[in-house]
Amino acid sequence: MRSSSRTLPATLPARTATVLTALALCASLAACGQNSDGGSKAEKSGGKGSTIGIAMPTKSSERWIADGRNMAAEFHKLGYKTDLQYGEDDVDQQVSQIENMITKGVDVLVIAAIDGRALGDVLRQAGEQGIRVIAYDRLILGSPDVDYYASFDNEKVGELQAGYILDRLGLESGTAKGPFNIELFAGSPDDNNTRYFFQGAWKTLKPYLDKQQLVVRSKQTKLDQITTLRWDGGTAQKRMDDLLTSSYSSADVDAVLSPYDGISIGVISALKSDGYGTAAKPYPVVTGQDAEIASVKSIIAGQQTQTVYKDTRALAKQAVQMADAVLNDKKPEVNDTTTYDNEKKVVPSFLLDPVSVDKSNYRAELVDSGYLKESDLR
Ligand code: GAL
Repeated sequence: MRSSSRTLPATLPARTATVLTALALCASLAACGQNSDGGSKAEKSGGKGSTIGIAMPTKSSERWIADGRNMAAEFHKLGYKTDLQYGEDDVDQQVSQIENMITKGVDVLVIAAIDGRALGDVLRQAGEQGIRVIAYDRLILGSPDVDYYASFDNEKVGELQAGYILDRLGLESGTAKGPFNIELFAGSPDDNNTRYFFQGAWKTLKPYLDKQQLVVRSKQTKLDQITTLRWDGGTAQKRMDDLLTSSYSSADVDAVLSPYDGISIGVISALKSDGYGTAAKPYPVVTGQDAEIASVKSIIAGQQTQTVYKDTRALAKQAVQMADAVLNDKKPEVNDTTTYDNEKKVVPSFLLDPVSVDKSNYRAELVDSGYLKESDLR
């Protein structure tokens, strides 16, 4: 408990005294850390020297390596210690890593969940010990023990991907009428971001699907038909192979909505094996996300068409700002208090802006900003 209790005059009526005691003990609900289920916890505080547990999902993607590295560096600058662990896309492993961090006595947890629904029990333990939890990039669902969320405007990511497709096909400007063939891919079903990305993309594409200016020949348009477990490129490649065989023996695919660069790379491999990438049979418009080096190279080489750049340096700074604030009894800066309902509470969030990147602006956005080095892209 951070607020100290004060001695009350003996003459106060019992009920008033009780209320005042409660108020003195707990200057505000926030300071008291009242959970949405009514329980309160003695929150850990203390600045420099505190330890931050950072649980990241996997090292198989550059972005998470950079996220972990950037956060650790920012925390160290402020005098914190860090315990950085990667769960290698294994849910049980991530749960036990977080359990260990709690046992070792970390003061705040920053978590990018592998499975957004698998952390309720372990976060209850964190809550009981007053360890504040910041959901990083991916919202943690079904748990009252999530204090803040740092992410990007996830629906906008989908809007940028779908909007890019409309623009490149000439549908938005009306220079082309179609019909164009499109196939849809979504991310991992256990990642809350997946439905936000798809929601943004779907609402952007829907008017053109309704007018049949865009056609999904496979008819696979429902989220549960198009997800890609653990965002795995190989899984996406296999699905794209199957789609090409089942639905494109007599037609070409003009666009592929891909939510993430690793999936885009898988999709492009399947397209290449099917003879795409020649003057007679050019690659379709293929979107992506994360501005990973392999995908930016692919964009420069004219294979993948677009990606969505999310500056993970800025995201790391936001999460660090949140942790630093809670440990110093301050309110973290948030800019959204309505969107991210995790089914137990609306989690106060700070959302950053994603940026669409293609061959025309990758240098300005990615290289000039120092996010990637020109030499990485050769
Ligand atoms: C999402 C994240 C994306 C991408 C994907 C696969 O949660 O928002 O940027 O990294 O995971 O790692």
